[in-house]
Amino acid sequence: MTTTTERAVGQPIGRIEGPDKVRGTARYAAEYQVGDDLAYAWVAQSPVARGTLTGVTVDPLVEADDVLAVLWHGNAPRLGAADDPELAVLQSDRISYRGQALALVVARTLEAARRAAATLSLEIDEEPHDCVLRTEHPDLYTPEKVNPAFPSETTSGDVEAAFAAAPVTVDVTYRTPPLHNSPMEPHATTALWANDDLVLYDSNQHPPGVAAAVATVFELPPERVHVITEHVGGGFGSKGSARPNAVLAAMAARVTGRPVRLALPRQALFSMVGHRTPTIQRVRLAASSDGHLTAIDHLAVSHTSRLFEFAEQTAVSTRHMYAAPNRRTGHRLVRLDMPTPRWMRAPGEAPGMVALECAMDELAVALELDPIELRVRNEPTVEPESGVPFSSRHYVECLRRGAERFGWGDRDPRPKQRREGDWWIGTGMAGATYPTMAQPSTARARRLPSGDYEVSIAATDLGTGARTILTQIAADALGVPVSQVRVRIGDSTLPKASVAGGSSGSASWGWAVTGACQALRSNSSSDEAVFDSTELVQKQEKDGKHAFGAHFAEVRVDAVTGEVRVSRLFGMYAAGRILNPRTARSQFLGGMIMGMGMALHEEAVLDPAMGTWVNHDLAEYHVPAHADVESVEAEWLEEQDDQINPMGSKGIGEIGIVGSPAAILNAVWHATGVRVRDLPARLDKILPHL
Ligand code: MOS
Repeated sequence: MTTTTERAVGQPIGRIEGPDKVRGTARYAAEYQVGDDLAYAWVAQSPVARGTLTGVTVDPLVEADDVLAVLWHGNAPRLGAADDPELAVLQSDRISYRGQALALVVARTLEAARRAAATLSLEIDEEPHDCVLRTEHPDLYTPEKVNPAFPSETTSGDVEAAFAAAPVTVDVTYRTPPLHNSPMEPHATTALWANDDLVLYDSNQHPPGVAAAVATVFELPPERVHVITEHVGGGFGSKGSARPNAVLAAMAARVTGRPVRLALPRQALFSMVGHRTPTIQRVRLAASSDGHLTAIDHLAVSHTSRLFEFAEQTAVSTRHMYAAPNRRTGHRLVRLDMPTPRWMRAPGEAPGMVALECAMDELAVALELDPIELRVRNEPTVEPESGVPFSSRHYVECLRRGAERFGWGDRDPRPKQRREGDWWIGTGMAGATYPTMAQPSTARARRLPSGDYEVSIAATDLGTGARTILTQIAADALGVPVSQVRVRIGDSTLPKASVAGGSSGSASWGWAVTGACQALRSNSSSDEAVFDSTELVQKQEKDGKHAFGAHFAEVRVDAVTGEVRVSRLFGMYAAGRILNPRTARSQFLGGMIMGMGMALHEEAVLDPAMGTWVNHDLAEYHVPAHADVESVEAEWLEEQDDQINPMGSKGIGEIGIVGSPAAILNAVWHATGVRVRDLPARLDKILPHL
């Protein structure tokens, strides 16, 4: 057996597929060459938010023009019952949101499909719709659970009595707008039927999940659906489960007998693949005059669709962030005539921690206490609501080390004190947390005749470096250099992997890969080993496992225009063992920059009359551009945690967006004295108060 003294895990190895991506040879879902008879599909989307579709008429001239099929509920093949109602495409006359797929044109060329879709005449009986989230909505209700399975409501102690008795209280309402995931690579599927098997080249975060969902819809045994997802250009949650494009492409391929490609145009992503729900959050904090919290109360209102209940877990991170004897968290939901919200990077935590961490800043001001010191004083010894000890929690160390590295020490706490030319300058901070999870997965390790090793698992790499990290984990578990390990992922026929979501990919897949490689290494009589982590993962205590961090921001606000620029953004994390500092750093920075977008730029603007968002492309839905990012840095503590998984890693994909928006908003207040409680902090919300 080969032995190596230098461990691969922890090394800043570059992405294995990097050269292929730079050369343009890495293939994405819409780039596979699948034969000369490839057809193209284009979706005709609903122009109304609510109603029924009574007919579809095709212009006969257009129909002759290379069009192979026009499918709608009047003629589309019947599908089996789907677990996700949004996969029951073209099955009903019911219109549940603007942008819903009402018809699909399949043609010999993309241009012909698009032209024909534009000339379809959709006969619709329109009904009045309701798309506006508001706290006094008559249909607000309390869901039984919030995602993925948390109780909607929790309460302990006597919150009202604590508020009545407290010398210092804060009662604030924060609003976050609907947000869109906006991955670089739009959702796309190339579908073909080979005998009775369905092959999908599909851009997603979970090939086995997509295969299972599509198999259900087409009433096939799951092994007859083969999903290939070699490379993915981002997803941020919107590709976590099969989206309508996968089913539509497969249906079109079945009807036409040809391979069919359906690549959603950017504008369709704003309605067809999910979004982050808007929230209205009321946070109340009560404290003793020396800054100990006596009560925390967090109520979050968000929306879901008519199709099914997506209940975002907005107030859940408040359950374990700070100590307080009296506490209450809750969620309210309303069904609107809107697309169903879905996961978007740190769903729940990202908007929830805006409200909590900005409210903590407001409390610090009310107490005349440093906001870091306020947090340190309310550090819990065990997870406050479950009573379970933390497997590891180095939040205070993140606050202290982060403050040192950022240069927080000599900060004048008073707002609107520092001016340089036309700029008001300020600093702010906020805490970060994200749950540490692992999900059951299976991996296979093989000894190849060449002496190298092949490790297989149906995971995906969204551009995060998953393939590279699994190679490092496998190399160490096998005791060989990374050059001797070939990792195969991105194919649903490989051993079953969990979703690339919940920042759990590396932990879940790495656990299975470690098990398979160790089993192979310890058995020299076999050339193959398979390891299923299900039993070990299910035995684990779920509570008390979280990553933590602290975000710091310096902003300057133009005294004349109200424009906010982020001159420095700094994150200090305690996220377990960092498997690859290079790919980890880009995950942290990416999250922080996305948090900057949440604080300052990103916002879907609703037109209540039309029942849709008026900005639905990257020209009008603003995300941070290079020029918006000045100095952004991430560092981390060496954290040992033996209770979570064999690698000791906590997951790093999402914590960067948790807390970074609040740090920026708190810095805006410090620079200007203006509290923006309605995100994003656009200049028109600041300028009138400057
Ligand atoms: Mo992430 S929103 O769990 O893909």
